[in-house]
Amino acid sequence: MREENEYLLGTDDDELRRLGFQHQVWAGTAAASWERGGFGPGHSVLDIGCGPGYATLDLARLVGQQGRVVGVDVSPRFVAHLQARAAANGMANVAVEVQDVEELALAPESFDGAYARWVLTFLRRPEAVVAGAARVLRPGGRLVVHDYYHYAAFQIAPEDPAVHRVVAAIVASWRDGGGDPNVGARVPRMMTDAGLEVVSITPIARIARPGDALWEWPRTFFDNFLPHLVQTGYLAEDERLAFDAVWAARAADPAAYLVSPPMVEVVGVRR
Ligand SMILES: C[S@@+](CC[C@H](N)C(=O)[O-])C[C@H]1O[C@@H](n2cnc3c(N)ncnc32)[C@H](O)[C@@H]1O
Repeated sequence: MREENEYLLGTDDDELRRLGFQHQVWAGTAAASWERGGFGPGHSVLDIGCGPGYATLDLARLVGQQGRVVGVDVSPRFVAHLQARAAANGMANVAVEVQDVEELALAPESFDGAYARWVLTFLRRPEAVVAGAARVLRPGGRLVVHDYYHYAAFQIAPEDPAVHRVVAAIVASWRDGGGDPNVGARVPRMMTDAGLEVVSITPIARIARPGDALWEWPRTFFDNFLPHLVQTGYLAEDERLAFDAVWAARAADPAAYLVSPPMVEVVGVRR
């Protein structure tokens, strides 16, 4: 059953597993982002749109017992999952709240850092999230955003029209749901409008070949999402099957590779 207000990709067990695997293959990138955010022991960090909290728990280990991490997400199911895992691990420095991040209700100037990964891209009003994050940061605190800036550039080589068709359907459904698959291009402006100084803009792009763990990352997304695109009329079943055939051929081709949809990490500081 779908949760009320759940985001485009749902909150069922498959999505929960997908987000866990996704964090696994992107954890190194996250760690580098947190370093650029200056997050460290004793800090208080907000995880905006934390989902089931795979990054939140790593952040909690980073800030240690003297620090604290607050995860907020609109999904009660994801929040309950995070709460249970934090309790099972005896992590008293994690707090979790069900909140709409477009209306962040947290004390002003109460965090040293804030992190938003793959969240703004799903929202109608991402600028409200950035403004809210700016309000809750202490002077010197940093907001780190990691998101797509040109989703349609996702590619599997050698190229095939069946892949372009699927990517176009994903983008159309995403936009119709109120999100922006290119939101990263707007984030620096959102930060300056919110009174943050942009300190770095870093491109994030990776290549995967068949057999790499990262090769499976888009596959887990396609498995969950393409049936939904067929049900909702964005994709025809024969287009989905054509895509699957291309994927299977590329997975067996030692000359194949995929390029992740280009992303950007933007870091802003509150002066
Ligand atoms: C792709 S997941 C990313 C989760 C997490 N940031 C990560 O990187 O693993 C997007 C998350 O944004 C949450 N979300 C979407 N719209 C939201 C809103 N308006 N308020 C709070 N959370 C929201 C979803 O529930 C989901 O957990």
